[in-house]
Amino acid sequence: MYRVSRRHLILGGAAIAGVTALMTKPEDKSGPRTPYFLELQAALMRAGIATPTLVIDRTRLNANIDALLGHLPAGMGYRIVAKSLPSLGLIQHIRERTGTDRLMTFNQPMLSKLSIAIPDANQLLGKPLPVQAAKSYFELLPPDASASAGRIQWLIDTPERLAQYASLAREQNRTLDINVELDVGLHRGGFEPSAELSTVLQAIQNDPNLRLAGFMGYEPHIPALPTTLGWRDKALAGAWNKYKGALGQARDIFGADAVSGLTRNAAGSPTYRYYQDTEIANEISAGSCLVKPTHFDSELLEPHLPASFIATPVIKSLPTTRMPGLEFADGVKRAWDPNYNKTVFIYGGHWLADPVDPPGLEYNSTFGRSSNQEMLNGGPDLEISPDEFVFFRPHQSEAVFLQFGDIAIFEDGEIVGAWPVFPASA
Ligand SMILES: Cc1ncc(COP(=O)(O)O)c(C=O)c1O
Repeated sequence: MYRVSRRHLILGGAAIAGVTALMTKPEDKSGPRTPYFLELQAALMRAGIATPTLVIDRTRLNANIDALLGHLPAGMGYRIVAKSLPSLGLIQHIRERTGTDRLMTFNQPMLSKLSIAIPDANQLLGKPLPVQAAKSYFELLPPDASASAGRIQWLIDTPERLAQYASLAREQNRTLDINVELDVGLHRGGFEPSAELSTVLQAIQNDPNLRLAGFMGYEPHIPALPTTLGWRDKALAGAWNKYKGALGQARDIFGADAVSGLTRNAAGSPTYRYYQDTEIANEISAGSCLVKPTHFDSELLEPHLPASFIATPVIKSLPTTRMPGLEFADGVKRAWDPNYNKTVFIYGGHWLADPVDPPGLEYNSTFGRSSNQEMLNGGPDLEISPDEFVFFRPHQSEAVFLQFGDIAIFEDGEIVGAWPVFPASA
């Protein structure tokens, strides 16, 4: 005869507890709207905005700029990462507040535009451009902007690319400023301290059309490493050792005085706060942390505030959620997950962004994403009507900011202006 033993009961109980623990009933995340977003919504409505819009809160942006500047040690320069702040007006605002004339640029169209709009800026390429793109840059530059071409640092990652730029310099009868990309651990190309690096530095010194402008060593991988067993500290020390080694090689060839005047660029938003003196780098570049998309929600960047949001009107607000063809399961789903209770369809969607207000809104993976009218679900306390706004935080700025036309500037409770964005180009 089958008998249920104590052991069976214990094992059975543990199994049920395990399954239940795995399937914890979701908590209701809906709740009252945040006063900040209600104020922003009222401002958008007063401004007559009724399409998906990228908003920058200029007060928060300024606080982020001040947090960055306040952290920089004496003598540390700041370079604006143009691709992460892809609007001339936005860049000019940051430039005025920081007083920097340094930009980091990542593509030829943006390089050309910035050379014309801010001719006195010093632009360092953030990635090596094919030599043909550099050639097009010179060909497209209007004659009256020619002086700004002399303020560009062309990034070089291989001996072959250096040879191509040397030919271009000869062809153009110009002296090109060369910045040498260092691999300080990211392994995205560039030079480690090596005989090859010395050969390249020597080639720059021997070429009358080339001038060594500096080095760039980017290390965003470091904060992503675990702190266990000191991995992160070791990676940072390793990166700085590589940078030091490269500078030592440059000193041997160009002399200490020449090297002390070079650009020594490092960092990005995730890492600029590691730099507390100018022993290795004498400038840091950062862009994203000034608008703080969600990918930059890190411990190191806690002093920075989210300053950019996507605002989009609600088209339809429905009291229940109904799935096409699966209506029979709607009741069970709703009983299990309160966050599935209500539905809104928004104007546009499918952005690289997370909904943040009203609280608790979520995408519906079964219904799917839509760029036309995206479905979002929320809990019983979700209160939003058509024409009111849903707010999102972008994951990143460089591509997302280009999807909405002019950026709306929010300050002192009003939309006070607009910053046109660069055309989407690579
Ligand atoms: C070479 C380089 N420096 C700095 C940055 C930092 O940009 P951000 O501050 O926007 O992360 C980047 C970003 O891609 C980069 O490629």
